[in-house]
Amino acid sequence: MVLNIKTAGGNYPVYIERGSLKKAAELIGAEHKVFIVTDSGVPSVWVDCVRSQFPDADLFVFPQGEASKNLNVYEELVSDMLDCGISRNDCIIALGGGVAGDLAGFAAATYMRGIKYVMIPTTTLSQLDSCIGGKTGLDIEGTKNIVGAFWQPSAVIIDPDVLSTLPERQFAGGMAEAVKAGAIRDPRLFEIFEKENYKDHVEEIISRSLKVKKDIVENDEREAGDRKLLNFGHTLGHALESCGGLESYLHGECVAMGMIAAAGPGLKERLRKVLRKMGLPTKAEADKEELSEYMRSDKKASDGSIDIVACDEPGKARIERVSFEELRRRLLA
Ligand SMILES: NC(=O)c1ccc[n+]([C@@H]2O[C@H](COP(=O)([O-])OP(=O)(O)OC[C@H]3O[C@@H](n4cnc5c(N)ncnc54)[C@H](O)[C@@H]3O)[C@@H](O)[C@H]2O)c1
Ligand SMILES: [Zn+2]
Repeated sequence: MVLNIKTAGGNYPVYIERGSLKKAAELIGAEHKVFIVTDSGVPSVWVDCVRSQFPDADLFVFPQGEASKNLNVYEELVSDMLDCGISRNDCIIALGGGVAGDLAGFAAATYMRGIKYVMIPTTTLSQLDSCIGGKTGLDIEGTKNIVGAFWQPSAVIIDPDVLSTLPERQFAGGMAEAVKAGAIRDPRLFEIFEKENYKDHVEEIISRSLKVKKDIVENDEREAGDRKLLNFGHTLGHALESCGGLESYLHGECVAMGMIAAAGPGLKERLRKVLRKMGLPTKAEADKEELSEYMRSDKKASDGSIDIVACDEPGKARIERVSFEELRRRLLA
């Protein structure tokens, strides 16, 4: 299937189809010179599949992991593009997870003041969430995504078959974002996780999650209103990701724990069951004081309280102002 994403600067297609990796050149078009950006953990079978379709393409491989989303790797990347003679009319392919997408997307946004890029996401998180929306960026001194740009891809190619090589923990972690999408906007999507074996419905989960995000970002490209709903589970999630000693959690795992703390009484237990079934953590082993301190510094916090996204039943999310006291109580619960 093809989803068409509308943005202020034009539309772009998202192809969701098993086997579409083999058709990348056909979908992207051969008129561009391409520069492929990927990381050392993306299995060579997928990298070779794309490279074989663009025999003249240059390839940049960076060390896998969040630690590469920084200015040094960015500088190496754009220097390499320059050395390879990449011009304003050429195109970057971001082949990998959210890290490759954010880094290559930021390079595309800034190199020669902006060139085209195509996303070929290869993790659950990137296929069902980060590949659309146009957010690109880097981490600086441990602060995530603090430098970045909104820059839309010209196409997204999603081949669910590439998920076959993804380790189980990464697979389930990314799926937490789909549970989130179901909770905020799509009761049927939530039901897949609640009542069925979600692994039998991967394509439907990807397309439903992306539709939720599409509907929201199309109406709020720059996060002024509804786009905040996508942050369900993320206020606490980001705090968990940033607090000491917890680097071992994946983003999706932090979102899972964050959703439990933010969910209303009608949803909390249902959510807990769903996440447990998926093998995701539901309670953080974190220093509660350190966490609330971190949240106090959140940009959404002021006057002893903070905006969080609350949700009482699937499909019904809302912004709720809660005091730090209340947040602490929920975290301790
Ligand atoms: N731009 C956005 O809107 C947005 C949204 C959410 C998250 N993000 C960002 O996404 C990043 C996390 O993304 P992620 O979870 O995809 O992590 P990731 O990109 O680090 O990928 C996870 C790991 O899986 C490996 N991998 C990738 N594809 C594989 C495959 N098919 N088989 C086997 N291994 C594979 C990678 O080498 C890596 O080691 C974070 O930096 C986060 O900030 C961005
Ligand atoms: Zn997220």
